[in-house]
Amino acid sequence: MVAALPPTGVRVRVPAKINLALKVGPPREDGFHPLATVFHAVSLYDELIAEPAPAGEFTVEVTGDDAELVPTDDTNLAVRAARRLAEAYAPAEGARLSIKKTIPVAGGLAGGSANGAAALVACAELWALDLEQEELLALAAELGSDVPFALVGGTAIGSGRGERLVPALARGCYHWVLAFSDEGLSTPKVYGRYDDLGGLTAPQPTVSDELMNALRAGDAAALGAALDNDLQPAALTLRPRLRRVIDTGLDLGALGAVVSGSGPTVAFLAGSESAAIELSVGLSSEGICRTVRRAVGPVHGARVVT
Ligand code: C5P
Repeated sequence: MVAALPPTGVRVRVPAKINLALKVGPPREDGFHPLATVFHAVSLYDELIAEPAPAGEFTVEVTGDDAELVPTDDTNLAVRAARRLAEAYAPAEGARLSIKKTIPVAGGLAGGSANGAAALVACAELWALDLEQEELLALAAELGSDVPFALVGGTAIGSGRGERLVPALARGCYHWVLAFSDEGLSTPKVYGRYDDLGGLTAPQPTVSDELMNALRAGDAAALGAALDNDLQPAALTLRPRLRRVIDTGLDLGALGAVVSGSGPTVAFLAGSESAAIELSVGLSSEGICRTVRRAVGPVHGARVVT
């Protein structure tokens, strides 16, 4: 059941993302890696409520899955987002934020970035700022590579360090099964391992034609075969037991499998809703992952809900 919204509050729902493709170039001078990625928003949501607070006061309270792993000080990305928005457009405001987590922390699903995007949308509404999407996107890009996508959702091609977006030509609704791990992976550590493995492909990473054609055609089987993540070998060397998770899901009939982002969540594509139910039951009964969740994509980015 959804908790009652405080009369003065704004509630925002924000989805997790998976990367259908993640192609990584050699590190830039600022340490970030140039990417060609396809983001895809899936129906696994965190919720954020923003309520008024005195000028300059920003607090956050976190409940739900993995809540104990989320910082509640000024390093929290939602707090940083609200502060940054106030600094730019509403210096006389503050906000009391509460986040209900469902997206696993450090799971490769951009849960922290989702909370940053949700705070931007919620506070912009709370403070009645009449901002263009472009203005929010610019602040989002300052906050993190995945924050702009959490604002827009859908299926989008990301470049730069992931923050530059164009919508992908994509058709269809896809059924995903997400296998969560007991313990998260640190994104910088996975990128570091990627560099150590020397797995640098081209300086200008690109997404395959096979994947873009599969999306354009709405062809789930072709999409399953084209899923592709350059960070997967790095994630697998840091967490070798993920190999068994991937193999088990494929043996159980998944059309494809990919570690999402820097992992450790594994996303399996199923051919239909019933195939996804069967796959999630099969994977759960193997007892090799913390939790198995079904989700569909694409879905909208961060939105105010009433
Ligand atoms: O942008 P964000 O704060 O999400 O990035 C977290 C970390 O992931 C960065 O500090 C960097 O180590 C790594 N990263 C990267 N290249 C990217 C995106 C992230 O090396 N394109």
